Amino acid sequence: MCGIVGYLGNKQAFPILIKGLHRLEYRGYDSAGVALVNNNGELNVYKTKGKVKNLEDYCTDKDISGTVGIAHTRWATHGEPSDANAHPHYSQTKNLALIHNGIIENYLTLKKFLISKGYTFKSETDTEVLVQLIEYVKTEHKLSLYDAVHQALTQVIGAYAIGIIERNNPNVLVAARKSSPLILGIGDNEFFLGSDASPIIEYTNKVIYLNDEEIVKIERNKEVEIRNLKNVVLKPEIKEIEMNLEDIEKGGFPHFMLKEIFEQPKSLNLCMNGRLQKELNEIKLSGITDFGDKFEKANRILISACGTSWHAGLIGKYLFESFCHKPVSVEVASEFRYRNPVIYSNDVLIPISQSGETADTLAAIKLAKDKGAFIYGICNVVGSSISRMTDSGTYTHAGPEIGVASTKAFTTQVAVLIMTALSLAKRMNTIEDSQYKKIVSSLAKIPEQIQEILDNKEQIENISKIFTYAKNFLYLGRGYNYPVAMEGALKLKEISYIHAEGYPAAEMKHGPIALIDEEMPIVVVAPHYSTYEKILSNIEEVKARKGRIIAIVSKGDTEIKKIADYCIEVPTTEECLSPLLTVIPLQLLSYYIAVAKGRNVDQPRNLAKSVTVE
Ligand code: M6R
Repeated sequence: MCGIVGYLGNKQAFPILIKGLHRLEYRGYDSAGVALVNNNGELNVYKTKGKVKNLEDYCTDKDISGTVGIAHTRWATHGEPSDANAHPHYSQTKNLALIHNGIIENYLTLKKFLISKGYTFKSETDTEVLVQLIEYVKTEHKLSLYDAVHQALTQVIGAYAIGIIERNNPNVLVAARKSSPLILGIGDNEFFLGSDASPIIEYTNKVIYLNDEEIVKIERNKEVEIRNLKNVVLKPEIKEIEMNLEDIEKGGFPHFMLKEIFEQPKSLNLCMNGRLQKELNEIKLSGITDFGDKFEKANRILISACGTSWHAGLIGKYLFESFCHKPVSVEVASEFRYRNPVIYSNDVLIPISQSGETADTLAAIKLAKDKGAFIYGICNVVGSSISRMTDSGTYTHAGPEIGVASTKAFTTQVAVLIMTALSLAKRMNTIEDSQYKKIVSSLAKIPEQIQEILDNKEQIENISKIFTYAKNFLYLGRGYNYPVAMEGALKLKEISYIHAEGYPAAEMKHGPIALIDEEMPIVVVAPHYSTYEKILSNIEEVKARKGRIIAIVSKGDTEIKKIADYCIEVPTTEECLSPLLTVIPLQLLSYYIAVAKGRNVDQPRNLAKSVTVE
């Protein structure tokens, strides 16, 4: 939800800011803008509706000089996408310009107050209220920019990551955060701001992760100063991040989504590296070694997440219940946080998140933490807000995921859940050693089996072309593959805009079967495991109503092949590992359908990669 970038140093800021915006465009792409202080001290703001490319075109005949600047790519919350609502926003006197990611909840009260003081507004945004408030406080109390930001923020309720610069002051950039991500990059006499590390990594790997309610003053040729809203001066903690430029570039693929689908053998190897010990046929997860007792003592496990991460969580329920004999409740974070759930102090909450910044998942953690639960996170982005709020956990190490449609994040989340459930079951003696060993050795083979499916991409591409006509799709699955059916449906609808539903196959008879006619494509996830015979009957039921069946089957399947219109084979493995394989053809199917329909796969309409507002 909105990407923000900032630069202060000896280089021209504009090219660095634009490149940073392109890298952050996955976070929002309905309008973009930039503000720069040039050598004459003038503060220039340029902004346009549309993508970052529009902004670049718009700026071709403008004064884009300046070695300090801020820039923004927007996902609209308050006010439709328009030039006026785009960031940066000027203050009344045009002395200040500000970018913001988040929501100022009390903006109407603040706006009313500012109007009473003679301020007028050009946009419908909450952000313009914030920059006007900072200007009001600054002039009223004759404060420096740093002090004014501090004082203004004490009056603000809501979430923010902001960057602000000032006319006639090319030496200072002030930034602050609360509940929205913000990273500060420290280079050689230069400083960078980014919503994540992607706009920074090309220049430096030294970063400071700002914490909630911290304000930073970045001043030319000086050390950064940080203090919090309580006015406590803090010692900046510089960390080194591990990320390569190749990780955040398309590397010859037409879309990030396709690159990330194809990266899955590698990302799973990275995820299992050092944890799955092939020689010993064992799994060692430090989180479980150190905190397994919390799980052992827990009467139940709660899992909370959103979207694709929630689907991974649903698979987690099958895993923990089968192997660890612990009851598990899987909760959509946005519902969990508002329904006053019963949480016991000996519960373990597993929040799952790729970005580590999802607002509802963060709120679920706060709620469970307040009630004394132990928080064991599964997260991809190192240093993200969620990873910093948990008591312990496991990083998925999928590498940066930039395509809005989540792919490699899902498979690595499932892999972490499998490793967690197995290590715990081993520790609690709730799994037979032979079964444990069999699953561990099968898990080690998953990356190469995924590669086998990826090598069959032409077949999936050909099938996808047949179904671009469809207005609706039904996805069916059972057991471990029911969440996979839901995930397949989510992938299709978010990037191709075709309506799709994921359903437990047997539940179809209780309603969705009425939708089936000769036009309706039904994707059935039907590998050969415990419910094979049952799902075979469900396929017969679909066929009897003339539905067009695309089945995901185990290699060598003979029965479903006799009935289904199209079969895509996946290698055989242990049942509990099958989602890691069956989801791959579904990712490819949705990708190729969306491409054939001419959709913007990496930046689907109305969506943003990380949902940092509720
Ligand atoms: O970063 P998170 O895993 O917390 O994000 C959760 C969802 O917003 C995310 O999975 C979303 O559903 C994806 N666009 C699905 O592809």
